[in-house]
Amino acid sequence: MKRVIVGITGGIAAYKAAEVVRGLCTRGIEVHVLMTEAATRFITPLTMQTLSGNPVVVDMFAEPRLWNVQHVAYARRADLVLVAPATASFIGRLAAGIADDMVCATILATKAPVVIAPAMNSQMYRHPAVQANLDRLRDMGYHLIAPEEGELACGERGEGRLAEVARIIAEVLKHLERKADLAGKNIMITAGPTREYIDPVRFVSNPSSGKMGYALAGAARDRGARVVLVSGPTALRPPSGVQVIPVTTTAEMLAAVLEHFPEMDVVIKAAAVVDYRPQTTAEQKLKKGSDKLVLTLERNPDILKLLGERKGDKILVGFAAETQSLVENAREKIKAKNLDLIVANDVGQRGAGFGTDTNIATIIRRDGTMREIPLCSKQELAHHILDEVVALTGGERG
Ligand code: PMT
Repeated sequence: MKRVIVGITGGIAAYKAAEVVRGLCTRGIEVHVLMTEAATRFITPLTMQTLSGNPVVVDMFAEPRLWNVQHVAYARRADLVLVAPATASFIGRLAAGIADDMVCATILATKAPVVIAPAMNSQMYRHPAVQANLDRLRDMGYHLIAPEEGELACGERGEGRLAEVARIIAEVLKHLERKADLAGKNIMITAGPTREYIDPVRFVSNPSSGKMGYALAGAARDRGARVVLVSGPTALRPPSGVQVIPVTTTAEMLAAVLEHFPEMDVVIKAAAVVDYRPQTTAEQKLKKGSDKLVLTLERNPDILKLLGERKGDKILVGFAAETQSLVENAREKIKAKNLDLIVANDVGQRGAGFGTDTNIATIIRRDGTMREIPLCSKQELAHHILDEVVALTGGERG
């Protein structure tokens, strides 16, 4: 039987947590509820205890003999932790790592997947501080269920309403069903841009944020793989439990990838590698001497192509960032680079490609068959790609 910890924090949507708990229990899931003090102003622990059939914990200090181990016990026993609703202040506390209530303390101590469903007034939701905290949680590998638009308890309309109960339950079930289907596999993922220096303070690069590659690294780790993440310069916090090799130039990325290639089962190249580098790099900062500066660029090695030439029975997945003839160009790259799969990324579309939290892609297999993935989070796309990888390793496609 799967065990889910449901954390409830203090917002008006707390009453909907009752429906969530009931929905999980009727699907045979063992549910334990933790509430913040503020949540008890909106719904009683007795209601949640009756629905879950288990004692509800609110006060970390109510049982002085137990308090220091209780959150760790919950954290260890959980198959998943869900927080619904998650208020702005809870999100801020968790993003800052403040463990002064049972919900935060349990999450900080758990290795289980954590799903968070925010709900609040739309102005609060859009506030840069709240958005920055949500970004932090996303970077830490927590799964967010975006709130919906609609009538809010405060009488306003807008984004901030707790996601529908059915959507929350479906998300929880999806994560519970996810198997450790990459256990025992070694996976290398490249992420972010490379940089090619013109002089000590200027470089040629591209706007890759690393989000796609980092999402893949976190997803592969969650599915049991040993992950090596070769990362160009990004502002992201690497997912925990992943071996990170920071690189700057294409030559450095090539060296890191070739060093680890022999021990890998799967390589996924999400990095946006700079194709051309300045023929020479000035040792000192270039002076503004004339109105024009002509740079001579020379080709960088194609890392993925080099891997394709020595692929053996390893699984090789490439990305194709395209602004036109998406599928045709991606198919060409499968052949030219000897790949098993390519993720064709139409980077000209809104919500897709460089820097966004979401993506749109077509996954194309070597035999030419395709799977279109409509707009979804980069985490979700990462799992779709890994489903295909699992299918290639002989497992079931999810
Ligand atoms: O990092 P984000 O902001 O999240 O953005 C994600 C992304 C848009 C960078 C990502 O989804 C993506 O599309 N990555 C591939 C970008 C790219 O370089 O595409 P390409 O079509 O130029 O290259 C094809 C493949 O060859 C890629 O797997 C690339 O890593 C690889 N390549 C390219 C050139 C080169 N010299 N060496 C390579 O290995």
